[in-house]
Amino acid sequence: MRPSAGKALIIDGKRVSELVLAETAEKVRSLAASGLKPGLAVVLAGNDPASAVYVRSKGKAAEACGFYSVQHTLPDTVSEAEVLKLVEDLNADPLIHGILVQLPLPKGIDSTRVLAAISPAKDVDGFHPVNVGLLGVGEIDKALVPCTPAGSMVLIERAAAALNFEVSGCNAVVLGRSNIVGKPMAQLLLSQNATVTIAHSKTRDLAGVVGRADLLVAAVGRPQMVPGSWIKEGALVIDVGINRIPAEGLTADGKPKTRLVGDVNFDEAIAHAGAITPVPGGVGPMTIAMLMANTLKAALRIAAAR
Ligand code: GUN
Repeated sequence: MRPSAGKALIIDGKRVSELVLAETAEKVRSLAASGLKPGLAVVLAGNDPASAVYVRSKGKAAEACGFYSVQHTLPDTVSEAEVLKLVEDLNADPLIHGILVQLPLPKGIDSTRVLAAISPAKDVDGFHPVNVGLLGVGEIDKALVPCTPAGSMVLIERAAAALNFEVSGCNAVVLGRSNIVGKPMAQLLLSQNATVTIAHSKTRDLAGVVGRADLLVAAVGRPQMVPGSWIKEGALVIDVGINRIPAEGLTADGKPKTRLVGDVNFDEAIAHAGAITPVPGGVGPMTIAMLMANTLKAALRIAAAR
């Protein structure tokens, strides 16, 4: 956490993610004597360039944590039956405790069916209907919780402690209703007794709704769509968006420059927010750290049940 040029505290997600990763690696070292080594399998199907980058980072982090790490790379011509067969094999593999099928899957493959085929105990993404249901009924200790909202919640708790901000009873607005971020984020905030509004593209008077948020989580994937003027004074702002936009000038090899921005106009928002996550370096690094934490959790639960 550091003060910004405005009045907001900047929430350093990179630093917090390093703490989570170091804690996970330490626990893995302490388990070595017992013979338990958490195993993570990542499945990448097709040629989505962004997915390839994410999957590589996940594999690197798994190795840094001391996990057994495997990647299955499948062509974009792979059939649904072949993906389902791989998932079944991974479900039965005693060395694997976490299975992540990177989305999006190639056209013609039903991702709902594939995600539902993953053993709920190994579903480190938290996308299986059993884990979605456990989160929905508030059984968070039994669920595997999706990584981005889980990481956002860690940042919220730390910022709340630093600001003396009470999540319980606050007006929390989640902008975005995706299954990966918006909906599970709203459930997590509800479990902490926030008064939660889920706003989306059809919401009337979005500026008014956002303006009443003591806590705002923006997860719509639209570059800088929330201007600083919408932010309530002193609000805690978690920006989940990672959007690439054109920047001024050319790179060394003559290509137009680009830069990453969030869903919130950061430069404007720091004059109003009490605390805010930057992009990059906010929520992004937390997603991979929580994937590692989930894999360790899954390994410990599976080992305890054997
Ligand atoms: N694609 C974009 N985000 C995610 C994620 O969190 N998990 C998986 N499996 N695929 C994604």
